[in-house]
Amino acid sequence: MNTAQRVAALPEIDSEFVQFWNEVLAPKFLRFKHILVDGLSRHSEAVFPQLPVHWGDRVLDVGCGFGDTALKLSELVGPDGQVVGVDCCDAFLDYAINEVNTKGVANVSFQRGDAEIALPAEAFDFVFARFGTMFFANPVAGLRNMRRALRPGGRMVHIVWRNRADNPWLSMAKDVVLEFLPQPGADALTCGPGPFSMANEGTVTTMMHSAGYTNIELRRVDAPVLVGNDVADAIAFQLAIGPAGEVFREAGAEAEEKREQIEAALAEAINRQKSSASGIVMDSSSWVISATNPAH
Ligand SMILES: C[S@@+](CC[C@H](N)C(=O)[O-])C[C@H]1O[C@@H](n2cnc3c(N)ncnc32)[C@H](O)[C@@H]1O
Repeated sequence: MNTAQRVAALPEIDSEFVQFWNEVLAPKFLRFKHILVDGLSRHSEAVFPQLPVHWGDRVLDVGCGFGDTALKLSELVGPDGQVVGVDCCDAFLDYAINEVNTKGVANVSFQRGDAEIALPAEAFDFVFARFGTMFFANPVAGLRNMRRALRPGGRMVHIVWRNRADNPWLSMAKDVVLEFLPQPGADALTCGPGPFSMANEGTVTTMMHSAGYTNIELRRVDAPVLVGNDVADAIAFQLAIGPAGEVFREAGAEAEEKREQIEAALAEAINRQKSSASGIVMDSSSWVISATNPAH
């Protein structure tokens, strides 16, 4: 029996970024789900025990991806609570719905939507986003929509990457690839501003104020993350997703011509990294940003 399904869709006007998530990134994210969910979870696991979520709450998970955080949130709200996951990408929603149905979870539903355009207006008690907000082309609009989805006094938490220097798992491979290929041009196809768009503490605090939040707090979380089960997996991951992947993709034929040299250089750099039982790990660092929708 289907317990989860897509409920009434939000307005669907796909921006170029939403199209990019669906057409270019979704297959790559599915291929490297083992790396992404493992790594991103290190940051949410650090905050889940302290989230201001209670039994019976209504919770919105923005940019919910594969649905694993929506499932975790559903445990926190219990059977009388509700979790709605919103994402702009069909393949992620299909995966999430299948997971929820397979597990027989009754209090989670999903909607397709662009958070910059609209979010469900249900006066949620809590809004959450793990590494989804940095891709907003208009971050204040997206953050404001998240605030408007909250009841007065409702709380939100979103997790974003800190600076490049503290995130070698994303930045190191780009530096290597740029030894062989040019920087992407201004007209490069992208999924939005990118992983470091909310890295600056002052800038992201100003965005949050402009979106109408109060009680804005940033907490730093550092965690080693998996970048591949082995060196070949790590190279394939870096050339598919993230900043290095963008340089490689945008360089087109030139990248393919130089693939052998690039892969050799990446192998050398990746071989210098630490390894764990599951594979190669590198350092990462995030901001956990919490805030309130003021009551008045
Ligand atoms: C890096 S992934 C993180 C996914 C998930 N939250 C996680 O932590 O595994 C970013 C997610 O945000 C979604 N996304 C990006 N821009 C969005 C937007 N404007 N509206 C809704 N979802 C968006 C993407 O489709 C993707 O699922």
